[in-house]
Amino acid sequence: MAADPAAARDKLEKALKTRSRIYFKNESLSPAGSHKLNTAIAQAYYNKLEGVKRLCTETGAGQWGSALSFACNLLGLKCTVYMVKASYNQKPYRKSLMHVWGADVYPSPTNMTNSGRAILAKDPDCNGSLGIAISEAVEDAATHDDAKYTLGSVLNHVLLHQTVIGQEVQKQLKMIGEKPDVLIGCVGGGSNFAGLCLPFVHEKMKGRDIRMIAVEPTACPTMTKGEYAYDFGDTAMLTPLVKMYTLGHTFMPTAIHAGGLRYHGMAPIVSALAKAGLIESRAYSQNPVFEAALLFARTEGFLPAPETAHAILAAIEEARKNEDKCIIFNYSGHGHFDLGAYDAYLEGKLEDYEHPEEKIAEALTHLPKLAG
Ligand SMILES: Cc1ncc(COP(=O)(O)O)c(C=O)c1O
Repeated sequence: MAADPAAARDKLEKALKTRSRIYFKNESLSPAGSHKLNTAIAQAYYNKLEGVKRLCTETGAGQWGSALSFACNLLGLKCTVYMVKASYNQKPYRKSLMHVWGADVYPSPTNMTNSGRAILAKDPDCNGSLGIAISEAVEDAATHDDAKYTLGSVLNHVLLHQTVIGQEVQKQLKMIGEKPDVLIGCVGGGSNFAGLCLPFVHEKMKGRDIRMIAVEPTACPTMTKGEYAYDFGDTAMLTPLVKMYTLGHTFMPTAIHAGGLRYHGMAPIVSALAKAGLIESRAYSQNPVFEAALLFARTEGFLPAPETAHAILAAIEEARKNEDKCIIFNYSGHGHFDLGAYDAYLEGKLEDYEHPEEKIAEALTHLPKLAG
């Protein structure tokens, strides 16, 4: 976060000719490159204390898998990562990074689990989804005594670990005499957005005018078009039911470049806040998101992850209103492993995609039927 508001105004604000002040909380500077380490280290630590020897997990874009690989290496645990096949192919160097930290990484769906085999029997070319990769990791942990499953987002404890983000922002804002008017984060499972916003929710509940905006891709419009219902967190229906906004656990994403935002569900805490009208949501397609990423990289210098660029576009839209506002967004991760996606954007090869209403309606027919 820039310490000097005037200096910050020289950059993105100047390019946008806005009276708003835009600040970003930079979570990209950790070794793994995103906010995910805030919870990876805590989860690996408590598993170590419990005597667990190996952690199993899924990863979409590879950020969470990298973070957990780093944490396991730090604490002397083994790590098995089921990486959504689309990302495994799009981002081979994320896999390399996980290998460097000693993890085993498999493109999901694999032939190693019942869930993976069942998917491949129906569709041998399946590109995978976070829901499928979660099923594989849960099954692996459930069938091996020394292993446990860990999730990098969605669940309450993950969101609480991430609140260190918002708490740091509170302290930093105090140092520069600012109060936030708008808080923005991209949402996959909801953890970086919640990490930024949760420490401010009580102020909003007490009546302070503060807006919180969750940003997702039109290719996976969980909050903007999903239903608030009980659903499974994974495709093979192995997890407990969760009350959340969902596109249905059978949701199959397209291979958009914001791999970390392609989850069918949303954190129950974030979902409940949206249902209560305390937070807003909006969705963008890929091309405008990358346009925002480029503007940011050319003004502030940092190259954002495609996920993060969703938050940047929302911050730009808010700033373009040219109101005298303090706008803060969470810079959840860097895009150093996403250069293939940047190339595709610069060559005009990125396609915008809107998840069709009929597919959502169909997927929602598979929601679990609850008694009562
Ligand atoms: C850089 C980055 N930002 C955001 C996300 C979205 O996850 P969450 O909503 O849990 O913060 C991801 C997920 O992989 C990510 O890699």
